[in-house]
Amino acid sequence: DWNMPDYIGEAVQKIREQVGTDEVILGLSGGVDSSVAAALIHRAIGDQLTCVFVDHGLLRKDEGKMVMDMFSKNLGVKVLRIDAEAQFMGHLAGVTDPEQKRKIIGREFVEVFQVEAGKLTNAKWLAQGTIYPDVIESAGKGKKGQTIKSHHNVGGLPETLNLKLLEPLRELFKDEVRKLGVALGLPHDMVYRHPFPGPGLGVRILGEVKKEYADLLREADAIFIEELRNTPFDLPAVAGIDPGKAPVNWYEATSQAFAVFLPVKSVGVMGDGRTYEYVVALRAVQTLDFMTAQWAHLPHSLLGKVSNRIINEVRGLNRVVYDISGKPPATIEWE
Ligand code: XMP
Repeated sequence: DWNMPDYIGEAVQKIREQVGTDEVILGLSGGVDSSVAAALIHRAIGDQLTCVFVDHGLLRKDEGKMVMDMFSKNLGVKVLRIDAEAQFMGHLAGVTDPEQKRKIIGREFVEVFQVEAGKLTNAKWLAQGTIYPDVIESAGKGKKGQTIKSHHNVGGLPETLNLKLLEPLRELFKDEVRKLGVALGLPHDMVYRHPFPGPGLGVRILGEVKKEYADLLREADAIFIEELRNTPFDLPAVAGIDPGKAPVNWYEATSQAFAVFLPVKSVGVMGDGRTYEYVVALRAVQTLDFMTAQWAHLPHSLLGKVSNRIINEVRGLNRVVYDISGKPPATIEWE
């Protein structure tokens, strides 16, 4: 029983009262939560909001351009895009341990954001896309000792920068955030995207992260996602997918799907020649809560098409494998 125009009206009013004439900064990640928070706050206070979008070089194909088009061009939001690829790659060079990689990415993110935020001397507020499940989770703390989303929530910034926290989505569940996003004019496909981890492709490149690997992975991943979106879903039901939702394509019929870069070379043939190139794994899962998950029984025709396209279109990859591991015992990400 949730009236969207009324809700937006009240939320806008509340933000205006809270913030007054102060300036607000927000770290835009391209994810659903920070995007919806940005759109809502922009609706309330317009140019008093400045978004900082840190491109760490571990985003998906065209993601940076998409964020800039959507916010800067279409919605007229002030967005500073910071190209920090070289800085991130530099700090990640030689590092292979997954948790160490997460720590470095999180730390550099805070570092870059802090420098940019420090330049906006009039800012009094730090806005974040914290949603209700995050509030609960940080009260309990994540699994495996990992602080999930630590880098989204830019821990420590309010103290060091002396900013007050603005968290307009704190009372909302994910599905409510999505409805709010659509009502605020964000594109449906963006608002209903699969989750993407804060460390980005950093945890989908096994071992050491290199720009060369990230570039290959971006191409393979984009082909996989495109084919999932283009393949109609016509089965009656899938376990692990909310029965209230009727998926129209295989992207919607899966909860999360992506390619993983394996820094391993194998032999292949191409024309008359022998190739010796890298491998990618495809991962697609169905789950309601991401705590357990099953591998998606994608049609073989779809898998075959994706494999052919990746090998034909991405120079540097000559083998594609499909991950058929459930969670548990495997995790959804490979690192
Ligand atoms: P796993 O791999 O633990 O993933 O089965 C469960 C869900 O959490 C996401 N994930 C992360 N999200 N920072 C994030 O923001 C992380 O370090 C991280 N690690 C895993 C993963 O994408 C899946 O949705």
